Amino acid sequence: MQNTQQSSSLNPCILVIFGATGDLAGRKLYPALYNLAQDQLLPECFAVVAVGRKAKSNQDAQADIIESIKAFSRTEYTGSDEDLEFLKCFHYFQLDFYDSAGYAGLKKLLDGIDQQCQTEGNRVFFLAVAPEHFAPIALELKAHGMAHNQGSWQRVVIEKPFGHDLESAQKLNSVIRSTFAEEQIYRIDHYLGKEMVQNLMVLRFANTLFEPVWNNKYIDHVQITFAETVGVEGRGAYYEKAGALRDMVQNHMLQLLTLIAMEPPVDLATESIRDEKVKVLRSLKVNPENVVRGQYGPGVVDAQQVVAYNQEQRVAPDTNVETFVALKTYVENFRWAGVPFYMRTGKRMPKKYSEIVISFKKLPGVLYFRDEQLDPNLLVIRVQPDAGIFFKFNAKKPGTEHSIVPVSMDFSESSLAGFNTPEAYERLLFDVMRGESALFTRWDEVQYAWQFIDQIARHWHAANAPAVVYPAGSFGQAQADYLIRSDGREWHEY
Ligand code: BG6
Repeated sequence: MQNTQQSSSLNPCILVIFGATGDLAGRKLYPALYNLAQDQLLPECFAVVAVGRKAKSNQDAQADIIESIKAFSRTEYTGSDEDLEFLKCFHYFQLDFYDSAGYAGLKKLLDGIDQQCQTEGNRVFFLAVAPEHFAPIALELKAHGMAHNQGSWQRVVIEKPFGHDLESAQKLNSVIRSTFAEEQIYRIDHYLGKEMVQNLMVLRFANTLFEPVWNNKYIDHVQITFAETVGVEGRGAYYEKAGALRDMVQNHMLQLLTLIAMEPPVDLATESIRDEKVKVLRSLKVNPENVVRGQYGPGVVDAQQVVAYNQEQRVAPDTNVETFVALKTYVENFRWAGVPFYMRTGKRMPKKYSEIVISFKKLPGVLYFRDEQLDPNLLVIRVQPDAGIFFKFNAKKPGTEHSIVPVSMDFSESSLAGFNTPEAYERLLFDVMRGESALFTRWDEVQYAWQFIDQIARHWHAANAPAVVYPAGSFGQAQADYLIRSDGREWHEY
């Protein structure tokens, strides 16, 4: 995100954060606001209302915000008044989300802030709360006249998970849609806010080089790996209902797949891009037999002994929930027919990284490709850490011998942006405030993603498929390797 946008170009607004004392607000939202403030990317007339269930004074709530900035901001906390300017119009509001009368008090507070801070009735309601609260809060906002969109704007930001299967997502959507119109709804997938994910379309459509070879004639297969070293960290209760399939594949991984596989949109308008992404989701085919399910056992990660998933807090000792998924899927259309997309994601892996590998076809077995050892060309897109792209190709080794070696061309994002690139939530908050929803998911994207996931979940349920244990600190169990090796390929690890 370039610092070309002055704060004055954004409409005044109040950011109302539900779940203001929670983990997401502390780790991501306050640090993001702090950095947006430093980059002058907040509206000139701006207020923050932190809504939480605990009793807290404005001063205590502000002190907690400063602590989260110190702990989690990508830029160091300066302590200067200027950098804390975004808290100039700040209120903490205690609310039990199920106490209807309390919402009248919230409305009164927001209307009062409009007078004090010239916020003109514009609101962003950020629901950083557990998913079961999304619908009740939206209904109360509507019932108390806070969801209307007349003369001023109101937007609601909804964190994932959006439902836990297609049916529950449809129900949630119909409630939310009865309160806010589709264009007022911002469904977050924070991966879409990551710099390198935004770079995917630029890479594909702003270069002559890639588009002509971006198809089944030249690409052998695609791999997407999201590996994490963390376990479920205090989120056992949520994770027991989600598992890796719903937590990572349904959203982040399928979103990335759509950006890799989509056709060029007719223009860069939000709906044009979303239309193309939906076509990819509709073309996805998976044989549930080609999905591997694993669960971490005890092991060593980052030189620390860690417990098994079934020993984590608020996890059932006999749980069958997966912390690892590997799968093979196909995008059945003219561009991609026959090209497998392999995906894998897991917790308690040996290292944290998210990466896409585009593996090109080998040339015919004549000339240099007689030698089976010669590697195919690979385009590796590293989403994190050290976001960047590298292209691996073959070249002659200098010298008199005629040997060929793989070499690579590297682009590291930090070389352009400096080491401190904006966090995903900075970009996403900024986009909500300016009413730009291309980096958020439209309802039909969510719907088709659930259709895909439900096929797998139903199969697991019917077959009573066990989540096979892998040692923490490894790349999942042997079946994941078998899935790709049985096709004569292997996982790339960079
Ligand atoms: C979240 C998942 O959506 O993404 C977490 O709920 C996961 O389980 C996280 O750890 C990973 O995000 P990132 O940005 O750290 O790769």
